[in-house]
Amino acid sequence: MKRACVIGWPVEHSRSPLIHRYWLDLYGVEGAYEKEAVPPEEIKVFLRSLGVRGYAGANVTLPHKETALALADAADAAAKAIGAANTLWFDEQGRLHASNTDAYGFMTHLSEEAPDWNRGGRPVVVLGAGGAARAVLHGLLAGGAAKVLIANRSQHRAEALAKVSGPSVSVVPWSEKGKALAGCGLLINATSLGMTGKPPLDIDLALLPADAVVADIVYSPLETRLLAAAKARGNLTVDGLGMLLHQAVPGFERWFGVRPKVTPALRAHIVKSLVGA
Ligand SMILES: NC(=O)c1ccc[n+]([C@@H]2O[C@H](COP(=O)([O-])OP(=O)(O)OC[C@H]3O[C@@H](n4cnc5c(N)ncnc54)[C@H](OP(=O)(O)O)[C@@H]3O)[C@@H](O)[C@H]2O)c1
Repeated sequence: MKRACVIGWPVEHSRSPLIHRYWLDLYGVEGAYEKEAVPPEEIKVFLRSLGVRGYAGANVTLPHKETALALADAADAAAKAIGAANTLWFDEQGRLHASNTDAYGFMTHLSEEAPDWNRGGRPVVVLGAGGAARAVLHGLLAGGAAKVLIANRSQHRAEALAKVSGPSVSVVPWSEKGKALAGCGLLINATSLGMTGKPPLDIDLALLPADAVVADIVYSPLETRLLAAAKARGNLTVDGLGMLLHQAVPGFERWFGVRPKVTPALRAHIVKSLVGA
């Protein structure tokens, strides 16, 4: 029986087991997907013994994504560009491969919900400069975004991200994020603001064009205050759950040999777990 897991600290909140166990049942795969709570001081030893523990691979979540990339024998272009890995698997020679599927997950869902998100090359505004923002930015640039403006509370992190991303990426001060919305075609919240238990995202949408798309990568709650406000003024909105579902696809295929589908039934299954969370 093939086994995979999600490794994090903490890991209790992870929805990955719900997604992968749903697919295991649906496709009749004899396999298991477990949660592994691994503290930072034990992560290197744990990852080096992943195969001995009987795992075909793993998902990796905070705070271990950088260590996972560093310890892998090989990494794909996305993981290298983002500087972090969220998916690991062994090849037939026992070499550990690392990938980052967050950019794929974000862009796949965005392209499904808002196929013309690029709006003829109008600027994209990204809020945040953490790990998820790095993945979103990588996806946007690979997907053809011509101009991206990043705003982050800690401006030096936005500047560091812009510096390694090339001339199409520039920084706007966090206090001016509302002004940056004038003329943009897509606004993305890639901070943790708006998530259950975190402060709300405080942004004035007055200058946001009526045809701009608004995406949030926070998925708990499913409809964040940002998305509710954008919807109320008529903007097309894209929630964060689709990213979570799609980022899981490549790992499942690597470990269990079936390319799974993201369906409305899977979505409904996970939404049930978010109610009251
Ligand atoms: N939908 C999905 O599949 C998916 C995937 C990955 C992550 N996420 C979600 O994305 C969010 C960010 O994750 P991450 O991995 O990027 O975390 P991270 O690396 O810790 O980055 C957090 C980001 O949020 C900003 N932030 C936090 N508290 C803030 C505050 N009070 N005011 C202003 N900005 C604040 C940080 O700004 P500073 O740099 O100034 O600290 C940083 O930009 C989380 O909610 C996570 O659950 C969703």
